[in-house]
Amino acid sequence: MKTFLMCEPAHFDVSYVINPWMAGNEGRVDKRLAARQWENLYGILSGKASVRLIEPVAGLPDMVFTANGGFVCRNHEVIVSSFRHPERRAETQYFSEFFACSGYRVTRLGGGIRFEGAGDALYDSGGQVWVGCGLRSDVGAIQEIAAIVPVRVNGLILVDPRWYHLDTAFCPLANGCVIVYEKAFSARSADEIRKGFGDRAIWVSDEDANNFACNAVNVGNDVILHKASGELKAALEKNNFNVIEVEVSEFIKAGGACKCLTLELG
Ligand code: ARG
Repeated sequence: MKTFLMCEPAHFDVSYVINPWMAGNEGRVDKRLAARQWENLYGILSGKASVRLIEPVAGLPDMVFTANGGFVCRNHEVIVSSFRHPERRAETQYFSEFFACSGYRVTRLGGGIRFEGAGDALYDSGGQVWVGCGLRSDVGAIQEIAAIVPVRVNGLILVDPRWYHLDTAFCPLANGCVIVYEKAFSARSADEIRKGFGDRAIWVSDEDANNFACNAVNVGNDVILHKASGELKAALEKNNFNVIEVEVSEFIKAGGACKCLTLELG
């Protein structure tokens, strides 16, 4: 059974702007609705996987996005985040404590390299790692991660501030599939994805990308996401996936959806 980490939205809000989705949404989160949406996601995920919780901290509104706590490597080592924006840097201490107490070896990339955890580093079903950089994580993170994990590490360049983390535009699934939004990537990186996934790449429309359809959680055959078009549902079903839509509109005001609210621990 997979295990995920989540963080209750007790202190969630949009109180600063560090990505384009947050602009104009400061103070506009419906807290009661956010709590209900989070509980719903938590309930659904708990039925399919084991879910652990990290204590939310006052003054750290984005800590709900546990995907950015760190990158959990498959050798019980965690590379904790070195956040680009000062607003999120204090989260690292709390996530580091959680991982250390849970028996993980905790590492941080050296040389002042920015790296935002599982927002920007993802395993595919073949065991390779894909790292997104250029916006939040530095290009230098690719080599550093390659020195830590004993598998092939593929670097991808993100080019559009709306798709600032890899997991907003790229979601490797079981069976060698990936949900992906082409416009988030440099032309060369889009080619790399084409080469790596071939006809198992499910390319999404602008509409699906804007609905954070690439920000999905895959557990077995289930793909949990905010919203998918009929076309995307059909493509996923053709590949034997079962689509579960979970509304997370309040979190999209902060630029995150289902996948960002979870961190796969193993
Ligand atoms: N407001 C947060 C930020 O800009 C959202 C993070 C979403 N997380 C993710 N893994 N994409 O950092």
